[in-house]
Amino acid sequence: MADDLFNSFMTGPDENGRFGDFGGRFVSETLMPLILALEEEYEKAKTDDSFWAEMQDLWTHYVGRPSPLYFAERLTDHLGGARIYLKRDELNHTGAHKINNVLGQIILARRMGKTRIIAETGAGQHGVATATVCAKFGLKCVVYMGKHDVERQAPNVFRMRLLGAEVIPVTSGRGTLKDAMNDALRDWVTNVRDTFYCIGTVAGPHPYPAMVRDFQSIIGKEAKEQMQAAEGRPPDTLVAAIGGGSNAMGLFFPFLDDKSVNIIGVEAGGKGVNAKMEHCASLTGGRPGVLHGNRTYLLQDDDGQILEGFSISAGLDYPGIGPEHSWLHEIGRAKYVSITDVEALEAFQLSCAQEGIIPALEPSHALAHVMKIAPDLPKDHLICMNMCGRGDKDIFTVAKHLGFDMSDTEGRDAS
Ligand SMILES: Cc1ncc(COP(=O)(O)O)c(C=O)c1O
Repeated sequence: MADDLFNSFMTGPDENGRFGDFGGRFVSETLMPLILALEEEYEKAKTDDSFWAEMQDLWTHYVGRPSPLYFAERLTDHLGGARIYLKRDELNHTGAHKINNVLGQIILARRMGKTRIIAETGAGQHGVATATVCAKFGLKCVVYMGKHDVERQAPNVFRMRLLGAEVIPVTSGRGTLKDAMNDALRDWVTNVRDTFYCIGTVAGPHPYPAMVRDFQSIIGKEAKEQMQAAEGRPPDTLVAAIGGGSNAMGLFFPFLDDKSVNIIGVEAGGKGVNAKMEHCASLTGGRPGVLHGNRTYLLQDDDGQILEGFSISAGLDYPGIGPEHSWLHEIGRAKYVSITDVEALEAFQLSCAQEGIIPALEPSHALAHVMKIAPDLPKDHLICMNMCGRGDKDIFTVAKHLGFDMSDTEGRDAS
């Protein structure tokens, strides 16, 4: 495992944690020793077979990996073009890709003797995954979550509490993921001795973006083997939704060296990228700056103040993007597009009706882009899309947007 993963020529970052002009480590002096200790531990783990053996064992027996690669036959027929495959990471234990990475970080935390784990969460899936793994290992868990997200992702808040985590609603800013990450970083500086900060996406100071990507790369590694087994060749196009960008980097990374594979990241277009910043499309509508310890594309005003952003999907509601995506965007290796709330809702319903899969709102954005491109592609074109989360957490939001009254026992049709 370790060897396969690190034998790529595109295995940035450089020794300063930079992907081209992006990434790095913009943190206070108090945090520096913690970050350096984490980097040292991860560098050791990377080439330690016993670390990867423990990961593999938990991925197999606790998470349920490998997740299937599923040929979406009815969706393919319905759209009438490319063959559409879904990488089913929504079938993982806890219902999303987030647990792939949490396991890696918590194994590292245990190796470092840390007993208190803190995390930030938007949609709640990273919080649930962290609370789950902490329960499994008997570790104290504190999750910071924006107040707005606490309200719109209520089922996940209850799950985290059932799992024994303390959920702290964050009221600063607009009460979303950015604000939760600010407070988690503040907690970390205050509790340096016993605390490990488990970041849920490919953002934050070096080594987080590369480390989270490495843990999530199991998605692309499996997809590569599974597509080879199913079709005898790699996919032609990869599509994944982007909040901070971890499920996307996980799918993309093992394919970066293969220039025949088109790579498309889908950002949250909210009410439309032209709508005055009522979106979260950092690459399509932002410019470079520094946030949460790294330099990357951000939504910001003329004075460099970070803007709040907006998306129907709590997991995509982040005004930045992982630095490796900014780099892939600038060198042109990956293309980034945006999808509006309305388009994502349409894709959500199509997945339910055509495939019997209730997707999370995050991958519904990826599916909406697949719906746009598949009809015009040849019938032998292979699309692999990451179905990175299941939709249970989103049914209240979707019901509200579709005008469906959950208390209506007459059972009015939601479609
Ligand atoms: C199901 C799901 N997909 C995607 C995301 C976005 O995160 P990332 O871009 O790091 O994959 C989230 C975040 O909470 C999520 O819950």
